[in-house]
Amino acid sequence: MSRQAKMRSAFRRSASPPTTPLRYNASMLILGIETSCDETAAGIVADGRRMLTNVVASQADIHARYGGVVPEVASRHHIEAMLPVVRAALLEAKCRPSDLDAIAVTAGPGLAGSLLVGLNTAKALAYGWSRPLIAVNHLEGHLYANWLVEDARPELPAIVLIVSGGHSEIILAEDHGSYRLMGRTRDDAAGEAFDKAARVLGLGFPGGPAIERAARDAGPKPPRLPRAWLGDSSDFSFSGLKTAVARVAQESSAPVADIAAGFQTAVIDVLVKKTVRAARETGARCVLLSGGVAANGPLRQALREAASPIPVWVPPPVLCTDNGAMIAVAAHFRAEAGAAGLNLDVRASWPIAG
Ligand code: KG4
Ligand code: ZN
Repeated sequence: MSRQAKMRSAFRRSASPPTTPLRYNASMLILGIETSCDETAAGIVADGRRMLTNVVASQADIHARYGGVVPEVASRHHIEAMLPVVRAALLEAKCRPSDLDAIAVTAGPGLAGSLLVGLNTAKALAYGWSRPLIAVNHLEGHLYANWLVEDARPELPAIVLIVSGGHSEIILAEDHGSYRLMGRTRDDAAGEAFDKAARVLGLGFPGGPAIERAARDAGPKPPRLPRAWLGDSSDFSFSGLKTAVARVAQESSAPVADIAAGFQTAVIDVLVKKTVRAARETGARCVLLSGGVAANGPLRQALREAASPIPVWVPPPVLCTDNGAMIAVAAHFRAEAGAAGLNLDVRASWPIAG
């Protein structure tokens, strides 16, 4: 075959579905790849529940010096870290490529340049190893992180609160793959609000853990900061709170720890009340919390207390933040929807539900 004919044939193959069709079985072994933001991650999960490995290379230290994630810098670091992370995952799980039933990857939402690194890696591996490729929505990944918690018994329908640096969503998961968006932020995400407030208070990046730590030293009467209830809506708005933090920091003599505590309480109050109301109104069997902000101890505690007797499941912090194992679990439950073609593209904006 001439070189040109070979290239044409390779192109045709790349634009068609993979050679290996996807056959669902309950004991599937799936490699999940995640690069939607600043974590380069690969996890391997068996049966949709048993985590064999979860390797995460975080770029948090690199972005800390800029005070936030710089998309171009993130993509470049994903390129460097991606293959070593996949190799480490396979080694740690003592797994050969031929043991895998499928390769799952976050196709969106997220930073386009970052998503592309994971997606193209997953495509190349799927093609080279003749494995089916499964496209996963990042938010669905966060939801399914709860299936990896050893003693959790998540049951559907569930109300899911996803709170991270890029997202603040309340979702009703009626069944696997069947979601209803109940509410979302109209401006800043909850994690973004933590990061911005921390910057104003000089606490560094990422702001969430810094604010949580600072708030532990607060006095008995931290300043009361405003809550945006938005009537009966389940939507959120956090941008006013950031302005309020700046105003209190400038105009009052309140210590930083007190302002941090006032801010944290205001965010938690709104997140918890709206989530619990949605759970009661929809008759949800449990509440699932996920995303980076779910690592916040006072949020976990307040949600558990307010939702009782509805059970609240929260993954350990390492599974709340972005990781590949959660992408593998989501793919397990979405596998019946079928494999993606190698012409799959990233979707920087990809609502989980309308
Ligand atoms: O899920 P994630 O790792 O990445 C995104 O997809 O955004 O979430 C990162 C966000 C950051 O905004 C960070 O400040 C916040 O999660 N975060 C926290 C805590 N740990 C991380 N927010 C509040 N309290 C924490 N302990
Ligand atoms: Zn995330």
